[in-house]
This record gives sequence, C-alpha cells and structure tokens, in this order.
Amino acid sequence: MRDFFPGLAGVPAAKSTISFVDGLKGILEYRGISIETLARQSSFTETAFLLLFNRLPTKPELTQFHADLTQHRRIKYKICDLLKCLPESGHPMDALQSAVAALGMFYPVADVTNESTRYWTAVRLIAKLPTIVAAFARVRRGDEPIVPRDDLSYAENFLYMLTEKIPEPALANIFDICLILHAEHTMNASTFSGLVTASTLADPYTVIASAIGTLEGPLHGGANEAVIHMLENIGSVEQVPAYLERTLGTKGKIMGFGHRIYKVKDPRAIILQDLVQQLDAHPDTNTLFTIARAVEQEMEKRIGQKGIRPNVDFYSGIIYHRMGIETDLFTPLFAISRVAGWLAHCFEQYQDNHLFRPDQIYEGPHNRPYQPLEGRTTLKNEEGKVRGKG
Ligand code: CMC
Repeated sequence: MRDFFPGLAGVPAAKSTISFVDGLKGILEYRGISIETLARQSSFTETAFLLLFNRLPTKPELTQFHADLTQHRRIKYKICDLLKCLPESGHPMDALQSAVAALGMFYPVADVTNESTRYWTAVRLIAKLPTIVAAFARVRRGDEPIVPRDDLSYAENFLYMLTEKIPEPALANIFDICLILHAEHTMNASTFSGLVTASTLADPYTVIASAIGTLEGPLHGGANEAVIHMLENIGSVEQVPAYLERTLGTKGKIMGFGHRIYKVKDPRAIILQDLVQQLDAHPDTNTLFTIARAVEQEMEKRIGQKGIRPNVDFYSGIIYHRMGIETDLFTPLFAISRVAGWLAHCFEQYQDNHLFRPDQIYEGPHNRPYQPLEGRTTLKNEEGKVRGKG
C-alpha cells in the first residue's frame, strides 16, 4: 500500500530560502525578517527587492529599482485593446490572467536563466500588473484607462489609476502595508502551480499567468472577495449566531477562516485588523468591522479548539472596501502584490530545476472491452450526465 497525501498536505515540494511560517507560533518571515518588522518599517518596493534578491537594497539600489519600476508602469495599447474586448461582466482575475499571458508575447524570454532578462521580466511584471488591473476596472465601465504618473509612489499610483484621485498619504500608506503583507507566503497553492509551470522551463509570464489562475478560487485568494459578500449577507451582529449555526451545521465554510498551516490567528490578520482600526470612522466600515469582530468571537467559541481562526483574507477586504475599491478587484490586489513572491520562487526553481512530475495511484479498471458504437447503450439514470443541463 503506497502512502497517499490528499492535497499533498505536509509534503515538502521544494527547498527554499524565501519565506518561513510557523503555524503554531504564528510566525511569518520573508528572507528571515519578521512580517511585523517589514509592515512597520519597509515599503512594498523594498520588500519586493528583498524577496527577489535575498537582501535589503542599499539606498542607491532602492532608488534605481523604484525608477525601473516607474519607467515600466505603462502598458502597450494592444494590451488595453485586449482588455476592452473582454466581457464587462467577466471577472477581473480572468482579465488579469489573459493580459499577463499576452504580455509574454510582447516580451519573449529566450533564456530563462539569463540574469538580466530575469531582472527586466520581474520589473515589467511588478510594474505592469497594477496598470492592467486599474485599466480593466475602467474600461469595463466604458472609461479610458488612466495613464500612470511617474511622480507617485507605487501604492499612490495604483489608487490614482483606479479612482482618478491622489489618495490621502495615510490611506496610501495602509495600502502599501497591505501589499507587503500579501507579497509572499511559502508553498501555497498558487506558488506551487507557478512552480510546476516554471519547472517545465516555461517563461515567467506563463508562470505568473498559471499562478494567477490558481489564486482566483475562493479557497485561496478569492476568499477576500467572498468574506465581504458574507459579511454583507449576514447584515448585522444579531444575525451572526444564526448564520454560523446554519453554515457550520451544513458543513459549510466560513470564508476568511482556517488555514492549512496556521492553527493560531494568522499574523497578517492581526496586522490587518489593526489597520482597519486605524482607518477614519466611516459608517459602512464600522458596520462591516463590527460584524467581522462578532463572527470572530462566535467562531472562537464554536470551533476555535479545532485551530480554525482568521486568515489573511478576513480583514483585508474591509480596508479595500473603505478605499472605495470594487469587491471583485480584491483578489487582483492580492495578485499585484503576490507577484513578487511568485517571481522569487520561479527564479529559485530555475536555479536548481527538477521537472515536477508526481505520480498517482490508479484506481480505474484494466482490460476493459471496447464496445463498438452501434452496440452501446446508456443506462436510464445516466442520461443527460455527459452533456449536463448546460
Ligand atoms: N469554516 C468552517 N470549517 C472549516 C473552515 C472554515 N473556514 N476551514 C476548515 N474547516 C473545517 C473543515 O470543515 C474540516 O472539518 P472536519 O474535520 O470536521 O471535516 C476541518 O476544518 C479541516 O478542513 P479542511 O478544509 O480539510 O482543511 P484544509 O487544510 O484543507 O483547509 C482551507 C484549508 C483554507 C482550504 C480551509 O480552511 C477553508 O476552506 N477556508 C475558507 C476559505 C478561505 O478563507 N481561504 C483562504 C485561505 S488563507 C489565504 C489564502 O491562501 O489565500
């Protein structure tokens, strides 16, 4: 009997020096530096440099990296045209995935091991993802995309391209911290999917497009969007116990709770909760936050002993909601930050590559007879199953 680990739970898929999680102590480090320190002292641009190059940049290096990212913020008009051709009702994550795959056609990578190519590919991807997300948010409403501004910081520029307003410094700072918190998280589903693609020596644009597709689902990055829908659906603190009773009673999941690794509250959720409290008072935010706090307290009473506690996606949406960002853009926000971590893993994979090609345990039949077409019949209760109701 061979060992089988559903979902590869607990199976190491790589050796890495990029980040570290202790799920029992609630520790997260990027390149050995705690997430609390980075959130307090770093910027997203500096954190991206740290993840990519395994050290903090010197002042001239950071200035240069920032200048390179700023220079590459613009996207080709053909990428804008592509976004304009997509259905307005389509999910922005699908638009982002399509645009990133298309980017690779404009910047072909002949040798994935070439250091200079890697640097400029990383710069392009980190610089252009926010522009793509903001452009799709505008063109789906019939508005022209807003051209990036070189005089604004990374966080300011994104919020400006989205809202046409330069954000308050405090709001831009909170947004930058959110980007730091989402930039990397060890061997999660999207990173793994990117690594599988990288292990075939596909180029980084294809790798990032794979990772974006995997981030989209509600069990992963899509949870931040689902949390806001859930809080809005609950509607009031009074409704919390009944909602949890109903959902947990039918084995449903409470979005923004639980984690494969953390059995304590996710350290990023602790920082994000604190950031929500730093936001200026707004009735809408207050209501969502009050409901969220009630959900957390009630969940702790009901299933806290199982180690199911708030994860990174539980409080982040409340912050984005306060910034006036549409709910279906929350997961793309996760992607524009996580691209830094994905790229670091992608380059680490190229460095010492071994094709990912796992095995399976076959449970199907053998030596099945081939029934000629004319003689085949479908059992009555199987009718319609092949084509479904579609
Ligand atoms: N609400 C209620 N019960 C839960 C939850 C939850 N959010 N999460 C886990 N459980 C229960 C689950 O029902 C199961 O119970 P039992 O043992 O009685 O059958 C047990 O805990 C183990 O759950 P699992 O789904 O088998 O565990 P996993 O390690 O595969 O799950 C998870 C990890 C993130 C998929 C899961 O916790 C989940 O679905 N959470 C909700 C979605 C979510 O918030 N996702 C974001 C994850 S963190 C950030 C990110 O990656 O983007």
